[in-house]
Amino acid sequence: MRKKIIAGNWKMNYCVNRAEAFVDEIKDTINTDEVDVVICPNFMALDRISDLIDGTNIKLGAQNVYPEDKGAYTGETSVKMLSAIGVKYCIVGHSERRQYFNETDEFVNKKAKKLLEVDICPIVCVGETLEERESNNMFNVVEKQVRNSLDGIDKELMANKVVIAYEPIWAIGTGKTATAEQANEMCKHIRDVISKMYDEDTAQKVRIQYGGSVKPSNANEILNMSDIDGALVGGASLTNDFVAIVNY
Ligand code: 13P
Repeated sequence: MRKKIIAGNWKMNYCVNRAEAFVDEIKDTINTDEVDVVICPNFMALDRISDLIDGTNIKLGAQNVYPEDKGAYTGETSVKMLSAIGVKYCIVGHSERRQYFNETDEFVNKKAKKLLEVDICPIVCVGETLEERESNNMFNVVEKQVRNSLDGIDKELMANKVVIAYEPIWAIGTGKTATAEQANEMCKHIRDVISKMYDEDTAQKVRIQYGGSVKPSNANEILNMSDIDGALVGGASLTNDFVAIVNY
């Protein structure tokens, strides 16, 4: 039985004080008994939020990382820097990074592997554009992203550490949610790809989230689908809606 994992991707929102006030408000009421709850604030707030959630079951996530150990990479952050302040998860390959910063599957793959070296779980995002869906090309597109982004990752780590997030680009921040059936169909397809890359046991263990306009009104239906093991929540993770989604 796969444990559900619900992560809040705050993107470029909330300065440190606002971030602290919000986490302070939800940290004792959010239900972390049955669901793994991850909060991914902006880099500036990571350290302070790490202190604030110490002693709770809320896990800290980062939104990005650079896949080199150290050196002349102005503006970048290494896996060890994240690990040192208690980061347990890190989003990689988000469509916004692929779109605005030209990140490729190969670069995403490097990041995922580097994170696993320090025991940080990568949340590897994949998903098709509207055009790719409308031309019925979405299954091929997502299969290629999954294969290339996860290439060469050890089977045990794949089964127990890697999280995959299916985020159709046309449903992000648009208010347009994939139907629960569409989301489940793609998550099932991703699981089949993992089965072909590894084996059925690994495919049954890996957790696959859905992301794209998840809100309290649709969380229950989405999270009860057979192949959806959680949600990656953007806008709704910045308010009390996040608590409601976790209590779906
Ligand atoms: P929204 O929930 O705002 O659509 O964002 C989804 C997302 O991109 C999470 O990573």
